[in-house]
Amino acid sequence: MPSKDASDKIVVAHRGASGYVPEHTMESKTMAHAMNADYIEQDLVLSKDDVPIVIHDIYLGEVTNVASLYPDMSRKDGRFYVIDFTFAQLMTLSVNERINYKTKKAVFPNRFPLKESSFKLHSLQQEIEVIQGLNKSTGKNIGIYPEIKNPSFHKEQGKDISKIVLQILSDYGYREKSDACILQCFDAMELQRIREELKCNLFLTQLLEFPEGSEHLEKYASYADAIGPSIEQLLLAGMGKTKGNSLVDKAHELNLKVHAYTFRQDEHPNFDDFEALLQFGFYDINLDGGFTDFPDTVINFLKE
Ligand code: G3P
Ligand code: CA
Repeated sequence: MPSKDASDKIVVAHRGASGYVPEHTMESKTMAHAMNADYIEQDLVLSKDDVPIVIHDIYLGEVTNVASLYPDMSRKDGRFYVIDFTFAQLMTLSVNERINYKTKKAVFPNRFPLKESSFKLHSLQQEIEVIQGLNKSTGKNIGIYPEIKNPSFHKEQGKDISKIVLQILSDYGYREKSDACILQCFDAMELQRIREELKCNLFLTQLLEFPEGSEHLEKYASYADAIGPSIEQLLLAGMGKTKGNSLVDKAHELNLKVHAYTFRQDEHPNFDDFEALLQFGFYDINLDGGFTDFPDTVINFLKE
């Protein structure tokens, strides 16, 4: 994490500027860069030939036309897995706005139209090259925020995704906490392994998937630098759900930063409007950062 004032709050472009352009496309990343997000997120899943692909799911069906191009490549469960396709095959797919796999309808119907796109998948290396290139041409220092997706699934398939990703990050100059890279993972055993066994010196964020109190925070603080809870996990139960619980304060006592997910202008349950949610997250409970599909709105809010 590059040095910022302790009071500075970071804005992470969640899957890019994904509120405007289909998630994890290079177009959504360049838009997020132009909007001056502090970090741009990459969810990572390996291809058959071990290339880290920037995609949220281990499946392809929600965001690509895989079913029409490769109808015979699904597994017994009817799903198309990224890990069954080579990088060259993945490059032939078109990427669309996210759909619900069962209903085939857009998850966010007011976002980018479903049928008007010729977007493509890409690798971690390709995305880093675009972000580093834009940093050079614009004079900015926008960071990356990669996430190791489902390491145990990769292990079952005979692959060590963390090792592969760490080598690429190192090759591109991301090695120390002061570098503009934060590595995240939901799997606590894997993130601890990344720090202790794989000797990673990057700033690490332990994502929290399920509601939990502060009982594991000390453990997380022994290897991670931040936690990443959902907004829901920060709400005090039974208080009309707009009051915060003590998780952020307890994390801060242990010197852990807190980067919460996901701030969405078009989805803010429990809060009347997006501004109320931003006020709650960034000021009432004092988050250090947040993942958002709408980086421009959050940046403007923080400026004001
Ligand atoms: O990684 C933090 C944030 O992205 C939330 O998780 O499910 O969108 O990858 P997810
Ligand atoms: Ca993520």
